[in-house]
Amino acid sequence: MDTRVVRINEQHIDDTLIREAGGIIKAGGLVAFPTETVYGLGGDALNPASSKKIYEAKGRPSDNPLIVHIARMESLPAIVEKVPEAAKKLAAAFWPGPLTMILKKSETVPRETTGGLDTVAVRMPSHPTAAALIEASGGYVAAPSANRSGRPSPTVAEYVVEDLDGRIEMILDGGDVELGLESTIVDLTTEPPVILRPGFVTEEALAGVLGQVERDAALFSGDSGQAPKAPGMKYRHYAPEGELTIVRGSAPAVTDYINAGLSKGRKNNKKTGVIATDETIGSYSADVPRSVGKRMDVNAVAKGLYRILREFDDESVELIYSESFDGAGVSQAVMNRLLKAAGHRVIDV
Ligand code: TXA
Ligand code: MG
Repeated sequence: MDTRVVRINEQHIDDTLIREAGGIIKAGGLVAFPTETVYGLGGDALNPASSKKIYEAKGRPSDNPLIVHIARMESLPAIVEKVPEAAKKLAAAFWPGPLTMILKKSETVPRETTGGLDTVAVRMPSHPTAAALIEASGGYVAAPSANRSGRPSPTVAEYVVEDLDGRIEMILDGGDVELGLESTIVDLTTEPPVILRPGFVTEEALAGVLGQVERDAALFSGDSGQAPKAPGMKYRHYAPEGELTIVRGSAPAVTDYINAGLSKGRKNNKKTGVIATDETIGSYSADVPRSVGKRMDVNAVAKGLYRILREFDDESVELIYSESFDGAGVSQAVMNRLLKAAGHRVIDV
């Protein structure tokens, strides 16, 4: 199939284009579109055949459920058993925005969309193009990140083209996304609610609204012994093709350890890469050195991470070391993704 790539300006959204894109989704086709977090691969969430197509296009296991995207609060009651108080509070505080809530699903949502579960993930994105597309598509758009399964989520349309060209009908190119990491997922079907995936709506912010919130035990450890509650978390994800190791400790010890590893890698004829910060990048001797920005600017780190992981693949880097980005707030999202990319390979020095 020919994939049409069209540029869309969020300041002056072209209604004709959006109607066309919405028509594709209503007819059972797939359209990739920008959101504030990452690009999504959209299909009609209430059409089982569309959800099947999404799994096929991504090469994704069909037991990994999709997030249903809505554009207005009035759309929520139809797809859930009931709207709990906690959901109303969270929606008032963080929607539209980078927060996904897990709720008990209604009959309306096909199990193809929820990977067989009786719960549904719902998010209302803030990106104007995403909101317009959802409205034009009938109100319910199932959208996983628009990458081939196992690759980092796309932060620009070029990466969507790289992964999905020829497999979907249309790509709306809205340029760079704003945030660069996927939404926070909070499960409201348990008491207290549990964070299944950290993101820009932080644990602190959720606790501020909910009072109490817990973290899924599998978030930061590779071997919690517990089955992950968001099925997507059990799959190897975000992973570069090269072997990635995170090195944690005092700055000088980290630099020394990484440089020793890099020179050993070079001796073995491995192409090397490093993920560091503006402050430290000059002290490493890697074939492909990449800075995520200033260490204090965690939003920049979050925004740059997936692009860097893809660049390592483009450059066929085989051995990669990364500095660690531990901390509260958005750092939790950064470390969660980095740990997954590294298969939880962490060295404390
Ligand atoms: O920011 C985002 O959330 C992006 C944009 C496009 O909105 N979407 C996204 O979707 O990241 P995806 O499919 O790549 O990740 C969805 C995650 C998966 O880990 C999946 O297992 C989990 O959400 N999930 C979906 N439905 C669930 C459910 N009913 N219960 C538990 N986890 C669920
Ligand atoms: Mg994804």
